Amino acid sequence: MASTIDALNLRHFHCSIDTGRIAWLGIDCADSSVNRLSADVMAELGKVLDHFALKPPAGLVIHSRKSAGFIAGADISEFSSLDSAEHARSIVSRGWSMFDRLASVSYPTLALIRGHCLGGGLELALACRYRLVVDDPATSLALPEVMLGIFPGWGGMHRLPRMIGPVAALDMMLTGRPVDARKAHRIGLADGIVAPRLMERAAAQMVLSGRPRRRPGPVQSLMNHPSVRPLLAKQALKKLQQKDPQGHYPAPRAILDIWARYNGNALKTPERINSILQSDTARNLVRVFHLQERLKAFGKAGKDHAPVAHVHVVGAGVMGGDIAAWCALKGMTVTLQDQDRERIAAAQGRAYALFTRKLKDKRQARAASDRLIPDMRGHGIPHANVVIEAISENLQAKQGLYQAIEPQLRPDAILATNTSSLSLEELRTGLSRPERLVGIHFFNPVARMPLVEVVETAQTDPAAIRLAHAFVGQIGKLPLPVQSTPGFLVNAVLAPYMLEAMRCLDQGTRPETIDAAMTAFGMPMGPIELIDTVGLDIARDAGRQLTGNASMPNCLETRLSRGDLGRKTGRGFYVWKNGKPVKQQPDPIPPRLTERLIEPLVVTTRRQLDAGVVADADLADAGIIFGTGFAPFTGGPLHYMDTQNSTRHAPAAAPTAEEATS
Ligand code: NAI
Repeated sequence: MASTIDALNLRHFHCSIDTGRIAWLGIDCADSSVNRLSADVMAELGKVLDHFALKPPAGLVIHSRKSAGFIAGADISEFSSLDSAEHARSIVSRGWSMFDRLASVSYPTLALIRGHCLGGGLELALACRYRLVVDDPATSLALPEVMLGIFPGWGGMHRLPRMIGPVAALDMMLTGRPVDARKAHRIGLADGIVAPRLMERAAAQMVLSGRPRRRPGPVQSLMNHPSVRPLLAKQALKKLQQKDPQGHYPAPRAILDIWARYNGNALKTPERINSILQSDTARNLVRVFHLQERLKAFGKAGKDHAPVAHVHVVGAGVMGGDIAAWCALKGMTVTLQDQDRERIAAAQGRAYALFTRKLKDKRQARAASDRLIPDMRGHGIPHANVVIEAISENLQAKQGLYQAIEPQLRPDAILATNTSSLSLEELRTGLSRPERLVGIHFFNPVARMPLVEVVETAQTDPAAIRLAHAFVGQIGKLPLPVQSTPGFLVNAVLAPYMLEAMRCLDQGTRPETIDAAMTAFGMPMGPIELIDTVGLDIARDAGRQLTGNASMPNCLETRLSRGDLGRKTGRGFYVWKNGKPVKQQPDPIPPRLTERLIEPLVVTTRRQLDAGVVADADLADAGIIFGTGFAPFTGGPLHYMDTQNSTRHAPAAAPTAEEATS
């Protein structure tokens, strides 16, 4: 039998039959480090199923031969090139039919899942009779299509709710959130969980076990009943309406509707396939995905340096303390230095809260705490691969500190500054190896902001830049290469945007109305709430530095003179209670307010690009999306402006709530 399988000349699979007649089908996509279900790969899977239809094995185990994981999903580039309704429908139909076929083969099938199992990969696994997950921290199962503005149309919307119940399934499908191996087992998504060293033996036993396919319990069956589904969908829709009242993101509504009305089969509503797959939102979210991949690629480790094992941070304030905690969370040894012992103690307290929040296992949280070492005298400096300076924003103080640090540095270490406003050119005067100073500019709050600007000049040592990028990648953040200019990219763009918002306040528009205009546009937070969050004093300093001679708005001066600095003092433009601003109802949004607020942001992004702060327009858009949360469905400020200019009308409207569920 092995020889006949060989005759199929598979490029993306390797198949062997063992003595127990179990077929081991290993996916190993050619010319790629990860497995993706492209048209080519799916066609080969079809050939394999044809072959086994004639000569059924005793069982089929589908596994991955890539160390990266099981399957990373469909081939997204195929969605980017959709040119017709027919093409869109054929992509959905291809996966739906293939997995239907897999689900109905006569022999038992099992997906052996280690590492990522995403999108189409999970839909393939759902079509198997059994799923066995490997207990490995990298194992992660998700249907993240919604994040690309599309839906899991290859059977996910049909099979997942039946397997784990609609409540857990809708949560996974509407948020794209992953579950790890243990949770997958707990919620019934996996039939078993196994240690890595036992996985083959366990897979062989399970596939031949004769255990019946997992069936939903009575409550889950009831909730999946055609007459109950619309009621559940209506409740879920209410939540969606609150989160996205403008309907910028049509895919979650489509998922609810396809599940409720068509039992998860998108092919029964072909017009919706087309409207979702070819929507501007989907196109833009796919663009954002590619931008994110591009930033991630900057963070890939280079060959000329070892992974960063030890980080030394000087300055245990708002930023330094949280940077140190984040690095310890990500597994590095961190020594944390400050001239003030209490600042270190406070940083350790915040760090412990972070560890317990992020690491559910108490022992892991304790281990992370142990990795964060208080170091008043800087004993860690000679051991560190990366030394990050995050002391107060004062040129002389920073230069003085560098004089003390530099002689102790390892020859291959980099010295990095978290400065937001001082230039590398000035900071490095006095260093004997000035080319080893880079900027690694984190955003506040460190744990929540995915972007880190890596600041360089023409004189910076390329090896130091590579190490800085790799370090940022190693801690799971997105590095953006920027040139050393005032405000770099993100702060330079935010300053005039915040200034314009305060000018509107001076002219009588209420803060709630300004914020409502921008959240309706799709920003995660309005500019007035943002100013309160970063602090009015910091907004003033940034404004002074970055908006030239522009006079300070009256509303800002008045509050500063009263000592109202925003969230940190409990009062700024809003009164803050329990970490939240107290807001009144906004007025109706005046015509052109949105355009007026967005314009300085877009214009400055263009200006920073023209000044060479970032290398190209895509990087500018990526920086603003991941550094400010700029409405992802627009594809970024420059892309948004280009589409506005070329179409002269707003992004395609989403179906209304009524359309989605009626
Ligand atoms: P901070 O005032 O909260 O903390 C500064 C810390 O440095 C204090 O704990 C202080 O005791 C310590 N320090 C000062 N001189 C020292 C020295 N010579 N040796 C050892 N410790 C010393 O300041 P923050 O906000 O954390 O800012 C730090 C740096 O990060 C600044 O360069 C700032 O521009 C930058 N930054 C700040 C952001 C923010 O939102 N706060 C955002 C991004 C960058």
